[in-house]
Amino acid sequence: MKEKLNILFIASECAPYAKTGGLSDVISSLPIALNKLGHNVKIVIPKYSFIDTKKFKIKKTLSIMGVKMGNVEEWCSVYSTVHHKNVTIYFVEYENYFNREGLYHDSEMNDYSDNPKRFAFLSNAAFQLCKDIDFQPDVIHAHDWQSALSMIYLKEWYGNDPFFKNTIGALTIHNIGYQGKYPYENYKYLGFSDQLFNHNILEDYGDINFLKGGIYYADIVNTVSPKYAEETKTEDFSYGLHTFLIDKKDRYFGILNGVDYEQWNPNIDKLIPYNYNENDLIGKSKCKLFLQKKLYLEKDKDIPVIGIVSRFASQKGLNVLASVIEHVVLDMKVQFAILGSGDKNLENYFRSLSPKYNGKIGMYIGYDNKLAHQIEAGADFFIMPSLYEPCGLNQIYSLKYGTLPIVRATGGLDDTIDQYDEKTGDGTGFKFNYLTPQAIYDTIGWAVSTFYDRKKHLQKMVKRTMRKNYSWNKSAKEYVDSYKMVINKN
Ligand code: ADP
Ligand code: GLC
Repeated sequence: MKEKLNILFIASECAPYAKTGGLSDVISSLPIALNKLGHNVKIVIPKYSFIDTKKFKIKKTLSIMGVKMGNVEEWCSVYSTVHHKNVTIYFVEYENYFNREGLYHDSEMNDYSDNPKRFAFLSNAAFQLCKDIDFQPDVIHAHDWQSALSMIYLKEWYGNDPFFKNTIGALTIHNIGYQGKYPYENYKYLGFSDQLFNHNILEDYGDINFLKGGIYYADIVNTVSPKYAEETKTEDFSYGLHTFLIDKKDRYFGILNGVDYEQWNPNIDKLIPYNYNENDLIGKSKCKLFLQKKLYLEKDKDIPVIGIVSRFASQKGLNVLASVIEHVVLDMKVQFAILGSGDKNLENYFRSLSPKYNGKIGMYIGYDNKLAHQIEAGADFFIMPSLYEPCGLNQIYSLKYGTLPIVRATGGLDDTIDQYDEKTGDGTGFKFNYLTPQAIYDTIGWAVSTFYDRKKHLQKMVKRTMRKNYSWNKSAKEYVDSYKMVINKN
């Protein structure tokens, strides 16, 4: 049995080079954790034109690489840099597909119409890359629909190739709400035989479904929390794929995401104005005053601040929060610090609140990693009223920053937050079950009243949450065990 595995991660984003959400944080940090366990991990993502090659010392590695798609051969090149000590990241450069300012859509949020081709190409190019750099993988690890087709290429195209004869396929679903469904007219480009276009594999009501095909072919499939693994086996959460996940039996399971405490730790975080830890929280109060000033909120450490850092997508439940936020600020002595972007209606609505509730609602509409850290540090509470949440990283960051999460009890939010007990003071946050305006209003009210009326509980909770440890160590071991479960059986 081979102890040290060669693992290739294929993904559409990786922090800090290209990021829209938590997927990129995981692609950035899990390989490092696997490497610390002794495995040899490489990452491949597209070389989008906005990636700062100078800053990240990205150099050309392969001047020319041929990738066969359907009946055509595409010619690309490959760049690379050291991601972390022994982990190299590769960037596939193909101007026609990746010379764009966005990852998946233009600035008006219109999806690029050639997305199926772009990401099928990435999924296939990864195999040629392995050969050209002479990296024989034991595991090809795909993430979400964007690289799901690599599971099919592995078995259908490279199944008889001696280079990949011992390679297994692992697929992680970070979000089943995005499956990569595209019109049949793209099928020829993928290069698969007609037999695969059937209801059990790639066909979905006449369209191609990338994630569905990947699930079928992957040796193991997991999602990013145990609770979401269970939820996605039901019709309510699976967006149509529950029966296919149930069919995987013990080859489908949940592994909770870890986080990178080198990036997200108030004691060493360089993006926040004052560092602090559980034994010395003075820095946190200063961070709060800094945040209030920065977002034009009334500077007062005795008013609780609720933070939001989020993609504005229907998944996040912010439309429901929006329907009640004005009542909250009118009825309660509380402030909001909001950072996010996405849905244009929500952007406009939130933007209209700042002047209306001057000093009570502050925000930045856009993407700003520094401000994300400053909100985690400066807020007292952090709200995530998600419709569903595969794992959620922000609430885990919040714990480390002593910023108490207010969350809907779904997916990873439920797995990572313990309900506050008003009698004993136990718990790490405030949870509600039903995504209704009333439940949000009540739970915010509960958190705010704890801030004003049960200060001792609050202080203890803050310290308790900061001691929580969601580093990758345990979860990375679970990934290795699951790879080995399949490797041993083969
Ligand atoms: P999701 O991946 O569904 O968006 P997660 O909670 O897993 O949710 O991860 C979100 C990540 O994206 C976090 O690292 C968060 O800080 C970051 N993020 C989201 N929106 C913004 C934004 N507008 N500016 C900066 N960072 C953001
Ligand atoms: C997805 C999910 C989020 C999860 C992240 C990383 O974007 O929406 O819940 O934390 O992936 O796995």
